[in-house]
Amino acid sequence: MMLQIPAVLSKDEVALLRALIDAAPWVDGNVTSGFRPGRPKRTRQLRGDPEAAREGGAMIVAARETPPLFVAGALPAKIFPPLFNRYGGGETFGDHVDNSIRQTRDGSLRIRTDLSVTVFLTEPGDYDGGELVVDDTYGVHEVKLEAGDAILYPASSLHRVEPVTRGERVSSFFWVQSLVRDDGRRALLLDMDLAIQRAAGTLGQSDPAIVGLTGTYHNLLRMWAEP
Ligand code: NI
Repeated sequence: MMLQIPAVLSKDEVALLRALIDAAPWVDGNVTSGFRPGRPKRTRQLRGDPEAAREGGAMIVAARETPPLFVAGALPAKIFPPLFNRYGGGETFGDHVDNSIRQTRDGSLRIRTDLSVTVFLTEPGDYDGGELVVDDTYGVHEVKLEAGDAILYPASSLHRVEPVTRGERVSSFFWVQSLVRDDGRRALLLDMDLAIQRAAGTLGQSDPAIVGLTGTYHNLLRMWAEP
């Protein structure tokens, strides 16, 4: 399942965040994630230690916890601290599947990467290329969103970032360990949640049908949720 979440950050917040991180030191992306032969990664990544990376990360953390759609779609159990990357001058990240387990450098957090999240921090008109291409069970999707918008997709899906041939593409990215590991079950729960909310808008929360369906939703979540 791919889920687009509009305006995780406002345009003002994007501008503030960009001013903060653009001034900070960037390094070869392979330095921070560990180089692997055959993994065609050519990009730059913001170093995790300076103040700018911490402050920028805190802004993304605050933003991502707000949208109800993020919570309903990801059902987050653990969230990796946000990282930032930058592509320009033909930089690219070829087809790959994300590492199944990610650990912070200080070892304080280890998560199973069920979902990958990208928050776009550049307007699509400001660069050419740079599409996120995701090959999930429903086909191939090309994603290039407005600055401030986010996309969630299964970390297990084959994906790549097309070469950026004009301008620069700056984004934040992170991983989520979900309460519900299976992508199909998570998608079903989101469909059900959204349908109940729509129906509750007309019938009211206390309508017996809504109460019953809400109970079924929670019983499914209880059955499928992992500690
Ligand atoms: Ni990836």
